[in-house]
Amino acid sequence: MKPLKIAVAGLGTVGAGLVKLLSDNAGIIAARAGRPIVVTAISARDRNRDRGIVIGADVAWYDDAAQMAAKADADVIVEVIGGSEGIARQVVETAITRGLHVVTANKALLAHHGVALAGAAEAKGVALGFEAAVAGGIPIIKALKEGLAGNSLSRVTGILNGTCNYILTTMRETGRDFADVLAEAQALGYAEADPSFDIDGVDAAHKLSILTSLAFATPVDFASMYVEGIRHVSAVDIDFADKLGYRIKLLGIAQATDHGIEQRVHPCMVPVTTPIATVDGVFNAVVAEGDFVGRSIYEGRGAGAGPTASAVAADIIDIARGNRSPVFGVPVGALAAKGIAAMERR
Ligand code: HSE
Repeated sequence: MKPLKIAVAGLGTVGAGLVKLLSDNAGIIAARAGRPIVVTAISARDRNRDRGIVIGADVAWYDDAAQMAAKADADVIVEVIGGSEGIARQVVETAITRGLHVVTANKALLAHHGVALAGAAEAKGVALGFEAAVAGGIPIIKALKEGLAGNSLSRVTGILNGTCNYILTTMRETGRDFADVLAEAQALGYAEADPSFDIDGVDAAHKLSILTSLAFATPVDFASMYVEGIRHVSAVDIDFADKLGYRIKLLGIAQATDHGIEQRVHPCMVPVTTPIATVDGVFNAVVAEGDFVGRSIYEGRGAGAGPTASAVAADIIDIARGNRSPVFGVPVGALAAKGIAAMERR
């Protein structure tokens, strides 16, 4: 059968991880997708850097990702550059305009422009997949769009930033200081290009705004979020919480209230008896509460090459199979604002 042609924009941690995954697991992926998946084009600023992957001689290299999006011989553009504006946005918009499918790991882009991009993709009849944008290796987008689609959801809660969870866990377990552990998370490829997005809660907020849209069929609304990060959490706070039987976790919480949908990200004291209290290190967790399913809990690695590439591959396989569900679960025209609740702390 005709291969599905993939162009990869960005060859950092995730892009390189994806190229490796598509090569290592080519056989099983082709069987599941019903056709081979081939990388036909790659864009990266530095072609010669050793990334531990083999790029075939038949792959077209581009220095400029926008050029690649405009010209590459591809069915799908994978955007793993990051950032809500600039080149990443241009790549995605260009691909959609060309009628190409898009898979992106870019939560910032979706948090700020998700509705417009989804509208454009749906108008063109192309897929816009973003499983990799939230909670890395947890298939939470599929869970909300498909697995829980029969439910009215009341609340979605989660540990959505692997870097923060890694920092909080390591500080508690080793007593090491914040800056030192953050540097380690950066070296491991967990942190954002600008790590203040992680530690100030912005990355978790980007992800929560996407989950909120899926859970409540509302337009993505990043602007109304209450956001507070972990910059001011000290070793003493963590220690006292521990002694009182709590873990400090950076949580994202979206819930239906009488006044609309409340969305907030901030550090929380979580009783150690709660399942997510023991989700440690780079792991993320999401708890969804639905009227028929009750409470369901998902856990997995939230950052890093492998989990993120795994999620990108899932979207590519979906496209190969011909799945074209609405980007945010219901068509963009049917997303309805349900009011914004006051963001007071509780
Ligand atoms: N910086 C992000 C995190 C990467 O630490 O969770 C995955 O989105």
